[in-house]
Amino acid sequence: MAKGFILVLLVAVWLSGSVSGQRDHPRGRSFDPEDHPIKYAEEQQTQYWVDKAQAKLLSKLAETQAAQTNKAKNVILFLGDGMSVHTVTATRNLLGDSAEQVYFEGFPYTGLSKTYCVNRQVADSACTATAYLGGVKGNYGTIGINANVVRYNCDGDRQEENQVMSIAQWAQAAGKNAGLVTTARVTHASPAGVYAHTADRNWENDWEVANRNCDPEQTIDIARQLVEQPVGQGLKVILGGGRQNFINTTVNDEEGYPGYRTDGRHLIRDWLAQKNEANVSANYVWSRKGLSLVDLDNTDYLLGLFARSHLPYNGDRNRKRSQLADPSLSELTEAAIKVLRRNDEGFFLFVEGARIDMAHHDTYARRSLEDTAEFAKAVQVARELTSEEDTLIVVTADHGHVMSINGYPFRDQEITGLAQLADDDLPYTILSYANGPGFSSAYNRAEGRALLKEKLTEDPDFRHPTLVPLDAESHGGDDVPVYASGPYAQYFSGNYEQSNIPALMGRAAGIGPYA
Ligand SMILES: *[C@@H]1O[C@H](CO)[C@@H](O)[C@H](O)[C@H]1NC(C)=O
Ligand SMILES: *[C@@H]1O[C@H](CO)[C@@H](O)[C@H](O)[C@H]1NC(C)=O
Ligand SMILES: [Zn+2]
Repeated sequence: MAKGFILVLLVAVWLSGSVSGQRDHPRGRSFDPEDHPIKYAEEQQTQYWVDKAQAKLLSKLAETQAAQTNKAKNVILFLGDGMSVHTVTATRNLLGDSAEQVYFEGFPYTGLSKTYCVNRQVADSACTATAYLGGVKGNYGTIGINANVVRYNCDGDRQEENQVMSIAQWAQAAGKNAGLVTTARVTHASPAGVYAHTADRNWENDWEVANRNCDPEQTIDIARQLVEQPVGQGLKVILGGGRQNFINTTVNDEEGYPGYRTDGRHLIRDWLAQKNEANVSANYVWSRKGLSLVDLDNTDYLLGLFARSHLPYNGDRNRKRSQLADPSLSELTEAAIKVLRRNDEGFFLFVEGARIDMAHHDTYARRSLEDTAEFAKAVQVARELTSEEDTLIVVTADHGHVMSINGYPFRDQEITGLAQLADDDLPYTILSYANGPGFSSAYNRAEGRALLKEKLTEDPDFRHPTLVPLDAESHGGDDVPVYASGPYAQYFSGNYEQSNIPALMGRAAGIGPYA
């Protein structure tokens, strides 16, 4: 009975395959299996898979014997913003689709983290930052405060009993260095979780605070918190974008763009003045060239603001020469480690690949995968600059996205390209989103689904199709991966609350309330 059923199924699959094979793609692309030879010949041999399994067993045995139980002198938390499991898998395909090619997939321990916030099933980057940096879940849109504080409450950031301290503060209290690196504005939601307490993630400058009818001299904006409050003031490395939140509307930055502040403060000058007063060596840089000229081995404090807002997408950096004036995430990570490692007590570093998320919001799938590839390169740089004996590296995401991988593509097909023909005889893409701005490239109101061409899908400006029209694609509520390497990496296996992550890192390093 069961065998007969499978036979019928196989015949049906074979028939449908040959039928769709006859329906040629309008541009001549074939979906006929005969036109898709085996990609890697060795995969046809049983021995290939047996050898692979043996190698995995050997590395597992070695890991078990060498489980690191030294204290973690250094902790580096890598945050791929919006880096869902699908994003990692698709990036692997972009890189060549074979073995573990996204660098951190080779880390010995992997877990899953539950990302929901106190008042939302699907989280944003603000409440999740409170969880993975401070160990407490809060409300959507709030940072560094617990869920007693509702969003937009002007006084919410100042009620001490509601403030949540981040692991950067735990590290500083233990005499370690702390720093942050991001490809977003340094005042954006994720990096703000390192040093700020705010009832609204948008309060990046005083104008935004006043815009919500709060008094900006009472409710301190995020940029001011970075420069004026203890945790931010103590950060040895601050690298990212976002000059606009540091200067007044009447002042232009180094590239000629005016600021967003209305209180007349010049927070970059204030930062330099403070460090000067404290007689420490401090450098402010705003370009890749400027960064390359810094003597990192003799720098106590490093502030780099490389763009008026966010840094460019990494794919665009490589496509447009002008954008190579900005440093890559891996270059920033290297500079940060070189400054931070000068402390014998060790350091905590937060590194965010911020634009993986932003590209997904625009359903620019290719850009998102390109930024994930650069993020993985930054992790590799960090692993190679540090020792597994004393440096714990944790790689995770704050939340997922609604991109999926569909349609039984052959192994040689481009991940950003077309999968198969659908029932309407039109091709559909391997990557698609549940919602987002790609709706209009996928559907034409009068004629139904649009005819997509393979060439078009290779363009980084192509918005991958969506089911529901939304101006910005939404986050996903799925659990996100956690990859760990170094002392106590074994703590990170299993499925747990996102808010457990700081406790696990703090315990590994012997810092903070869980030491
Ligand atoms: C800052 O900008 C505001 C307008 O946005 C202006 O009224 C104010 O005079 C400026 N402050 C300084 C010190 O230039
Ligand atoms: C900084 O150095 C100056 C003179 O070089 C000295 O007067 C001052 O006390 C020092 N300040 C601190 C905070 O060490
Ligand atoms: Zn987002």
